[in-house]
Amino acid sequence: MNKTRVAVLISGRGSNMMALAEAALDPDCAYEVAIVASDKPDAPGLAWARQNHLATFALSPKGIGKAAYEAALDAELRNAGAEVIALAGYMRLLSDEFVGRWQRRIVNIHPSLLPKYKGLDTHQRAIDAGDAVAGCSVHIVTEELDGGEVLGQAEVSIEPGDTAESLATRVLIEEHRLYPKVLSAFVRR
Ligand code: GRF
Repeated sequence: MNKTRVAVLISGRGSNMMALAEAALDPDCAYEVAIVASDKPDAPGLAWARQNHLATFALSPKGIGKAAYEAALDAELRNAGAEVIALAGYMRLLSDEFVGRWQRRIVNIHPSLLPKYKGLDTHQRAIDAGDAVAGCSVHIVTEELDGGEVLGQAEVSIEPGDTAESLATRVLIEEHRLYPKVLSAFVRR
């Protein structure tokens, strides 16, 4: 099977990237990880990627500016043969120009049941609203923040006494199940 080459972009611990990379080891998985890239050269997830023999790229936009940073990132991803980009805890907004160059080929995982709670502090906002369920969504990245087509979701019930942290822990387990499954289906379609 010809696997689709995916670039995974991270900014931190990279637990979703690890879940994506581990799932890719299955011969039936429709994608393979072409490269793990980070805007934070000290992101803990990068060390894991290197230890697991994945190609990595780290560059901070600090000092060079967003346009030069994105141009270098774009070149590196294309050089690695990436066909799709999976954002996994990547905390930087991609420019409209970058998104346009990868039209409908960038996906993201967001810790809420979109269209609810775009942006940050999703779990606290769900608790404060008195919601009975929270969850996560994998969606296509467009110019609108957390606004593109939703490809898949998983729900997690909110329990009495839940804090943003306790809820985040349970949602994260679902993220790790959902993201590889949805990404594999997305690259097949
Ligand atoms: C996850 O909750 C993800 O939904 C959000 O940022 C967090 C990243 O965690 N986009 P990790 O770096 O994948 O562990």
